[in-house]
Amino acid sequence: MAQDTLTIVDNRTNRPYSLSIEGGAVRATDFRQIKTSPDDFGVMTYDPAFMNTASCRSSITFIDGERGILEYRGYPIEVLAEHCTFLEVAYLLLFGELPKEAELKNWVHAITHHTMLHENTKKFMEGFRHDAHPMAMLVSTVAALATVYPEARDIHDPSNRLLQIERLIGKMPSIAAMSYRHSLGFPYVYPDNDLSYSANFMNMLWKMVEPKYAANPVLARALDILFILHADHEQNCSTNAMRSVGSSHADPYLATAAAAAALSGPLHGGANEEVLKMLDEIGSRENVPSYVKKVREGHGKLMGFGHRVYKNYDPRAKIIKWTAEQVFEVTGRNPKLDIAMELERIALDDDYFVQRKLYPNVDFYSGIIYQAMGFKPEMFTVLFAIPRTVGWLAQWQEMLSDVDQKIARPRQIYIGQRARQFVPMEKRALHAVTSH
Ligand SMILES: CC(C)(COP(=O)(O)OP(=O)(O)OC[C@H]1O[C@@H](n2cnc3c(N)ncnc32)[C@H](O)[C@@H]1OP(=O)(O)O)[C@@H](O)C(=O)NCCC(=O)NCCS
Repeated sequence: MAQDTLTIVDNRTNRPYSLSIEGGAVRATDFRQIKTSPDDFGVMTYDPAFMNTASCRSSITFIDGERGILEYRGYPIEVLAEHCTFLEVAYLLLFGELPKEAELKNWVHAITHHTMLHENTKKFMEGFRHDAHPMAMLVSTVAALATVYPEARDIHDPSNRLLQIERLIGKMPSIAAMSYRHSLGFPYVYPDNDLSYSANFMNMLWKMVEPKYAANPVLARALDILFILHADHEQNCSTNAMRSVGSSHADPYLATAAAAAALSGPLHGGANEEVLKMLDEIGSRENVPSYVKKVREGHGKLMGFGHRVYKNYDPRAKIIKWTAEQVFEVTGRNPKLDIAMELERIALDDDYFVQRKLYPNVDFYSGIIYQAMGFKPEMFTVLFAIPRTVGWLAQWQEMLSDVDQKIARPRQIYIGQRARQFVPMEKRALHAVTSH
């Protein structure tokens, strides 16, 4: 009869070992019993970039990368994007179930009433240089919230944790909007509690002298859908940063700032900004074949293509393509869409991309929509950070209540020198390192 075990024979000692398989995984610590002598440390697993290591057990987000499936708490992303608001999905991610009407009402009220920033935070943001990158302003300001809410350090009290979660979800759009207006030299717009989460964000971004901001409903819904699509994506780089920093029991503002910092890189949330730069560089549809040829020959990457997990069309990219059509009916067509579609057509027909299973990811079309809505490319990653905050916080909560979790602390395989003789200054040889 089949057993859920794995038998390993150590060819150094000829000893067999039997390791349990649970949920398709063996525990890396079980390898430590495999030794050549009692003082041997035992076998480790080596997995830079976590290519095949599960760092947790989670019930929040499911991805089947081969089939292009994404589900939040078991619900397909396509269904949630069609039927829910972003705050409804936020509730689902955090609490595990879709809210009943009264629960949603209370939840929306709680988030809406945490959208204001303390005046000190506003002053803090006024100190940034006028040309500071909005993502750097967002990361620093989220970290600075830890100074405004020192009680957040009590992460073991569930009701205190919930308060900080509501504050973070409520204040993220306010910080994002303020960083945007700061870069334009415009005054800060206070939140309007009558508006939905995304309409209020648009109000804080774009209100000028009108007494009340009226968000275009098609654009507000498109933004809400984009927020739903970006809300969580299981153990990606920034979520791993959130869990790793949170595992030291740092407060949620500092852990969220660390996660946002991880998101800012061009290989992660910064990719949509890079896609627009790439489309600008390509310039027109006629130049697409030569650009793809250049990439195939090893000069650069197609930004917005490829994914560590998806080896099929990213399901979020499909919904974004559909949303783009709705947005363009209001804003007019962004001419970059034609270049992007040509790029997709040619790449998906090219052996290099087909063999490596490189498909458009979520970032490929999102930047084109954001630009049509009037956002500058520097804001794109900020627009990603707002909804992803929900995922980070859901994962942080799950991590804190998981008895298997401890402070994250990987092992290393040391390859440097050992026990060297100290060399006095006057006897040290010159070597090639230069300093600036
Ligand atoms: C997302 C990404 C970082 C995943 O990287 P990864 O899982 O480490 O995959 P690898 O870098 O090992 O890629 C596997 C192969 O595909 C190639 N490849 C991956 N993404 C590519 C891209 N966008 N354009 C061209 N080639 C690409 C790699 O060069 C590698 O080729 P090789 O086997 O000949 O060496 C990577 O696909 C990428 O940099 N994409 C562009 C940035 C982007 O859109 N990021 C947003 C992610 S949501």
